[in-house]
Amino acid sequence: MTKLRIGLIGAGGIATTRHLPSFQTWHEIAEVTAVCDVNEERASSVAKEFSIPFHTTQFEELFEHVDAVTICTPNKFHAEIAIAALQAGKHVMCEKPMAMTAIECQDMIDAAEKADRVLLIAYHFRYTKEARAAKRFIQEGEIGRPLVSRAQAIRRRKVPGWGVFTNKELQGGGSLIDFGCHFLDLALYLMDFPEIAEVSGGTYNELSRQAEIVNQWGYFDPSTFEVDDHATAYIKFKDGSTLLFETSWAANLADDQETVSVSGTQGGIDIFPLKLYQAKYGMLLDQEPYWISDEEDPGIPQALNFIESCQGRQSLVVKPQEAMIVSKVIEAIYKSSETGKAVSFV
Ligand SMILES: NC(=O)c1ccc[n+]([C@@H]2O[C@H](COP(=O)([O-])OP(=O)(O)OC[C@H]3O[C@@H](n4cnc5c(N)ncnc54)[C@H](O)[C@@H]3O)[C@@H](O)[C@H]2O)c1
Repeated sequence: MTKLRIGLIGAGGIATTRHLPSFQTWHEIAEVTAVCDVNEERASSVAKEFSIPFHTTQFEELFEHVDAVTICTPNKFHAEIAIAALQAGKHVMCEKPMAMTAIECQDMIDAAEKADRVLLIAYHFRYTKEARAAKRFIQEGEIGRPLVSRAQAIRRRKVPGWGVFTNKELQGGGSLIDFGCHFLDLALYLMDFPEIAEVSGGTYNELSRQAEIVNQWGYFDPSTFEVDDHATAYIKFKDGSTLLFETSWAANLADDQETVSVSGTQGGIDIFPLKLYQAKYGMLLDQEPYWISDEEDPGIPQALNFIESCQGRQSLVVKPQEAMIVSKVIEAIYKSSETGKAVSFV
């Protein structure tokens, strides 16, 4: 079989720590043949380090060298580059969040449909062994109907002060759009994306007001901290189920809390670590898995899902329509916080 030729656009942290090593794992069926970064030095040093034959600072120049692209630029450029790549007939894997707005997400979906090309959004938590097992457990009816879910993406005083994470124009937001989006996606996925009725939310930007930096991940400049440090939301679905959501980059709490729980009519789950609960034999039976396989970076199965979807041998684990719903909820949380009112989807 011919190898899928992949181009990386945006050669920063996530490209070099997750995507390039993951694609190398699948070297028998895919190869990275081109890399682009607006920073020429970055493009050439990554090309050298990973033995990538072609590098450029203009993403359009990369298209003739590849069959597919992976977009790892700041969020502001996701939609523009994805649409250009799809129009050039390339398959696309785009880092999360899908785009800055739901309208941009829809434009990306339209371009993928028109070009008949794959569009995968890198919500990599879906590929963890815990998420795969939990999804199967719920799909097979083991918890009954999901009723009440919670998603927590909380970091204790860990603001990513490097790169452009705190720049609202380039990223669209902070803890919610950058980190919370993963757990929002995971909760909606486990609940099987019920139709949304209403979203109420609150977002906070307190760190910009604090003179003293207390941050485990190093220095950031409070005067340029333009984004949310905390966000909360309450989401009601048309089937009566609900989701309580919290995220933060800088919580003043004892520990990080990164989990999703779903309580259903017959049982429930907690996902990190995975625990399963079932009402059976007159008791609530707790089960913890014994994992046979070692931990692997979820970027590895994610890369395989992308490659094989492009080759027509797998279907996408993360559908772009689902990633667009996550972006719609994020947008609604920001809007609800701004207006002080719930956003109705009915
Ligand atoms: N899945 C995850 O858990 C995860 C983790 C970190 C980042 N991300 C996402 O990955 C993306 C990049 O984040 P990062 O941490 O790698 O950032 P980064 O700042 O380390 O890298 C971004 C790179 O893109 C380059 N760039 C900027 N504009 C460009 C353009 N128009 N064309 C080509 N290159 C351009 C920059 O020069 C930089 O080298 C963001 O969308 C972020 O949300 C996802």
